[in-house]
Amino acid sequence: MEGNKIFQTEKLLHGGDYNPEQWLEYPEILEKDIELFKKAGINTVTMGMFSWSKLEPEEGKYDFQWLLDMVERLYQNGISTILGTPSGARPKWLAEQYPEVLRVDAERRRALFGGRHNHCYTSPDYRKKVWEINKRLGEQIGKHPGVVLLHISNEYGGDCHCPLCQEAFRNWLKEKYGTIEELNRRWNTDFWSHTYQSFDQIESPSPRGEMMLHALNLDWKRFVTHQTADFAMHEKAALRAGGCEKPVTLNFMDDFEGLNYRKFKEVIDVASWDSYPEWHRKPERITAAETAMQHDFMRSLLKKPYLLMESSPSSTNWQDVSKLRKPGVICAAALQAIAHGSDSALYFQMRQSRGASEKFHGAVIDHYGGEDTRVYQEVCEIGEALDRISEVSGTQVRAQAAVVYDTENRWALLDAQGPRNIGMPYQDTAKKMYGALRRQGMNTDVIDMEDSLDGYRLVLIPMAYMFRSDFEKKVRSFVENGGGAVMTFWSGVADDTDACFLGGTPWGLMDVFGLRSMEIDGLYEEEENGAVPVPGNSLSLDKKYSCRNLCELVKTSGAEVIMQYEKDFYEGLPVLTCNAYGKGKAYYVCADMEQEFYTDVVDGIVKQEELDTPLDTVPEGVEVSTRESEEWIYTFVQNYNAMPVRISVPDNAQLWFGEAEDGMLSKFATAIYRTRK
Ligand code: GLA
Ligand code: ZN
Repeated sequence: MEGNKIFQTEKLLHGGDYNPEQWLEYPEILEKDIELFKKAGINTVTMGMFSWSKLEPEEGKYDFQWLLDMVERLYQNGISTILGTPSGARPKWLAEQYPEVLRVDAERRRALFGGRHNHCYTSPDYRKKVWEINKRLGEQIGKHPGVVLLHISNEYGGDCHCPLCQEAFRNWLKEKYGTIEELNRRWNTDFWSHTYQSFDQIESPSPRGEMMLHALNLDWKRFVTHQTADFAMHEKAALRAGGCEKPVTLNFMDDFEGLNYRKFKEVIDVASWDSYPEWHRKPERITAAETAMQHDFMRSLLKKPYLLMESSPSSTNWQDVSKLRKPGVICAAALQAIAHGSDSALYFQMRQSRGASEKFHGAVIDHYGGEDTRVYQEVCEIGEALDRISEVSGTQVRAQAAVVYDTENRWALLDAQGPRNIGMPYQDTAKKMYGALRRQGMNTDVIDMEDSLDGYRLVLIPMAYMFRSDFEKKVRSFVENGGGAVMTFWSGVADDTDACFLGGTPWGLMDVFGLRSMEIDGLYEEEENGAVPVPGNSLSLDKKYSCRNLCELVKTSGAEVIMQYEKDFYEGLPVLTCNAYGKGKAYYVCADMEQEFYTDVVDGIVKQEELDTPLDTVPEGVEVSTRESEEWIYTFVQNYNAMPVRISVPDNAQLWFGEAEDGMLSKFATAIYRTRK
């Protein structure tokens, strides 16, 4: 257990991004900030991320004193620092002196100076300049006792198509395929005569050139991930070269498609992410469920406590509408993070900037600057709450269920051209499956095909179009050994270079699921079919459900048919099947079903298999999660409904935090129960 702790202190981090470099001419403001931080229970700030111009105003002329002074001053006041490296935005002098650092887009146009997050990850010049500054930061600031964590760059993302990146891509391909013949074979380049004679001819995908060779697109995305992770490693190595051995994190983004975050596992000691849900756009319970899934995805990266690195304490000014958080929601969101295994609730930003593009982004301290604001007061309440429950820091979230949500699969699936170009419901299906598990109050890991399935009892697999990393073998042995697997339509269709499997799908698992997929029907937006239960089915399902978008037609070879299509020429064909294989069961969902279907199917399986759930019943809109120490189980119950609800109480538990008189939980409120193990 100890080994999984991020920090050896019993403390939940509370604070966020702080940019004193914007306020160096206002000493009274810097003074005031510390006073306000302390009052609000702020114990950690992130600094340095966008400070390159202040840290190295001219090439080779470093000025770290102001930052060191800040770190020291905060430290003296009991506030720790997460030290950012500044590579997310570069000074003008750097771009002028080394133009190759500027990114080239897919149309092959080089960017001008400006913005951020837009440098070439390959450029030796950029790598050199980053090395020089990171090494010094590691040496001169990272070792300060006030620094608790190293935060590399900011929200890596995007690709660069410059000549340096093209060359690196070709070398990466050479390494991967060995010969051009092998690449041609795996990429199926005989199609449209797009055969390559040598690696030198390969270009990254471009709207001016090749966009339709799916294997090229897929490998380009993999290369971009590889190159970005390599850049991150380089940043980390520079900090280490400066003698700083503190843990390292990268701040990941919400459901970000551009990078496969799993490939950063070797870079990070701690996972962290930035959460900006559009609160109050949809009913809060839906937003909460979507956010919960991201929390679980981030925790599942390293399967240990992680950090909520950023969240808005008020509105978010880059979204369509800058919606204020209704009272109680900032606190609910902070405690939701903790419930899912985060050891922090951190905000962007501590003090609102005066000018430029984030001047109207929410902040703990706004332009008015006083403490008598609604947001500051709620942040103070959160500070008290986190202090009160600090003993949960370092405790684990154990999950007996998982959803396989795989970024590379998503790339391939969405690029495939067919069977439904106006929308493939991958995220949606994953969300519905996840939602069904969470309605049971079951902790859920969100994993990918590279992860092991060992240790889970129930694994839900939405649209696993591309089988990679021996996934079919993992599913087979998981079911064989007694696991329950629920896999959907459009699974096991293509291999890891997006070449279709021959001889039937779901490839390698037809015997496990006891069926073969014959065809898949894409539905127009206005079309709908239904699923009707087969009387006396093993899950006791007795309702009718609707399906949309995709309907797969399967032929069973031993599987029990639980539900059937209601109409069309495939009326009577299976919609839901179950096959007993080894000691386990393999369920197959043939169509894009509504949420209620997944909720009821999971409910049926949980009852049948007698899986553990923390509460007897979980009302809709109530979130339940547990964390465990060696001694205690902490059950977090949150109400995301617009009205109070009655909740059930875990067995032998004491209400340890929050108010739930007569089991009633008011809207956006959190109750935490503690049970001795
Ligand atoms: C991102 C960035 C921050 C800031 C916030 C604003 O998450 O990491 O620097 O721009 O968005 O919401
Ligand atoms: Zn480049």
